[in-house]
Amino acid sequence: MCGIIGYVGPRVARDVVLAGLRRMEYRGYDSAGVAVVSGGALHVRKKAGKIANLDTALESDPLPDTGIGIGHTRWATHGGPTDGNAHPHVSCNGRVALIHNGIIENFAQLREELQGSGITFASQTDTEAAAQLLGLEVAAGTDLAEAMRRVCRRLEGAFTLVAVDAAEPDRLVAARRNSPLVVGVGEGENFVASDVSAFIEFTRFAIELGQDQVVDVTAEAITVTDFAGAPAQTHPFEVTWDLSAAEKSGYDWFMRKEIYEQPRAVADTLLGRFNPDGSLKLDELHIPEEELRGIDKIIIVACGTAYYAGLVAKYAIEHWTRIACEVEIASEFRYRDPIITRTTLVVTLSQSGETADTLMAIRHAREQHAKVIAICNTNGATIPRESDAVIYTHAGPEIGVASTKGFLTQVAACYLLGLYLAQVRGTKFGDEIAAVMNELAATPPLIQQVLDSLDPIIALAHQFAEQRSVLFLGRHVGYPVALEGALKLKEIAYLHAEGFPAGELKHGPIALVEEGIPVFVVVPPQGRDQLHDKVVSNIQEVRARGAFTIVLAEEGDTEVEPYADVLFTLPRVSTLLQPLVATVPLQMFACELATLKGYDVDQPRNLAKSVTVE
Ligand code: AGP
Repeated sequence: MCGIIGYVGPRVARDVVLAGLRRMEYRGYDSAGVAVVSGGALHVRKKAGKIANLDTALESDPLPDTGIGIGHTRWATHGGPTDGNAHPHVSCNGRVALIHNGIIENFAQLREELQGSGITFASQTDTEAAAQLLGLEVAAGTDLAEAMRRVCRRLEGAFTLVAVDAAEPDRLVAARRNSPLVVGVGEGENFVASDVSAFIEFTRFAIELGQDQVVDVTAEAITVTDFAGAPAQTHPFEVTWDLSAAEKSGYDWFMRKEIYEQPRAVADTLLGRFNPDGSLKLDELHIPEEELRGIDKIIIVACGTAYYAGLVAKYAIEHWTRIACEVEIASEFRYRDPIITRTTLVVTLSQSGETADTLMAIRHAREQHAKVIAICNTNGATIPRESDAVIYTHAGPEIGVASTKGFLTQVAACYLLGLYLAQVRGTKFGDEIAAVMNELAATPPLIQQVLDSLDPIIALAHQFAEQRSVLFLGRHVGYPVALEGALKLKEIAYLHAEGFPAGELKHGPIALVEEGIPVFVVVPPQGRDQLHDKVVSNIQEVRARGAFTIVLAEEGDTEVEPYADVLFTLPRVSTLLQPLVATVPLQMFACELATLKGYDVDQPRNLAKSVTVE
């Protein structure tokens, strides 16, 4: 949500900034803008819509070549997506240009105060209040970094701010509270950005800014302080992936590329986390085993796809550990006054590690003295930094807004955590844990097998390209898979899609079934009580009412054949692990259908990749 980049160095800042904005397009935005400093003045261009509109504006009215610039892609919150509301915002005295990600909660009060002292506002944004405050500070002679600190001390809410001063052509300042910001460390050049993908082309060395810190950046120096001006501790890190991981590599969409990356991503998530004898080793889990043995409740908190991964995890964790496990949508969590004690373990799932709802949920949990384990894909992001321990998913950068490899690797990491807890608490014998672990380790080639057999799914997307409504059914861990299949269709193909527990159908949703409606059914492997047979009955129920049934069942399952209009066979895995193979065809169905409809698969309307506001 909102992409931010700033550059100081010998290159043409405008070009570096525009390239960075393009790499962050996936975050979601509806306007874009750039500002550079040259000849003692600010030069700003900004446009509503895609970066292409900004490119056109720059062609007719070019920016000067200069080594300092800032750029922004905005996802509208306060004020519509117009040219005027796009960032950067310039203080009315012309001194500073400022960009912002987040929400300044006390902006109305600040605006009123500033207007009262004669300041004219040019936009409806909350951001402009910060730009005006900063402009006043520097005009009064305050050093730029100190001016930024003073402004930050007056702001409430979440913000990443980056600013340049017309009178300081070699320096930019940035600040962060509850919103992401990384510094890219180059040789004789430096960067600030919302995420490393913006500058990975130029450097893999980065510094993660902590909460409530201000960074003062020139081409040669980076100085970090807290909001009071005291020198601050920083966390340098080296990015482990390279530019190619942030590019499409011949695929039409990042989403499609990321779907195909899943065997590798799951393998990387499992890598180094189990011993040859099948026992688990989660060295990064710096929570003493004794404390893990004392846990009497687990609460998983997450949003969207990550929440569905949490629902899968519940089945596995409860089955293996016999600890009660709740799964909660993060935005609801703290408002219901959840029962949390010192013996509650909160597990948070987040691909980006910056989701504000999830972050607030874990802060609440930690205030109540719960231990928090983050399962996250983004090194050094806020959520893992604010948790007691982290299991990184190692999926590589996920750029498509619709999460795919994020989901599968979150599920895989949850299995690891569940098995580890079972090992520590002795709720499963070593050979039982080893058997599951070995099966889990064998899933990447099976995911590949699914990817190699997706032609019937592609054909179905063509067949149903004009369809208005699609249903997804599952039971047990197949239920969250159904929810995930429906979410993928909603978010990228803009279709009415619903996922239901198949047994719940007869209590209402079956009324939605009409002649010809496609219904995907995830059939569990045979052998677990009557689960399989119950789902077969559910397929018959919808088929009897005219549904077109697309049945996902394990190979060799002949029992479902008579009831499937299309049968897609899944490799054999045990029930709990089935989401790793069953989700893939549903992801591809959505990707292909959205492509056929001509939609922007990677950047669906109204959505942002990293949702940094509550
Ligand atoms: C999934 O396709 C989504 N776009 C969205 O639901 C996402 O999973 C959710 O916002 C959580 O994001 P996170 O994993 O980065 O916290």
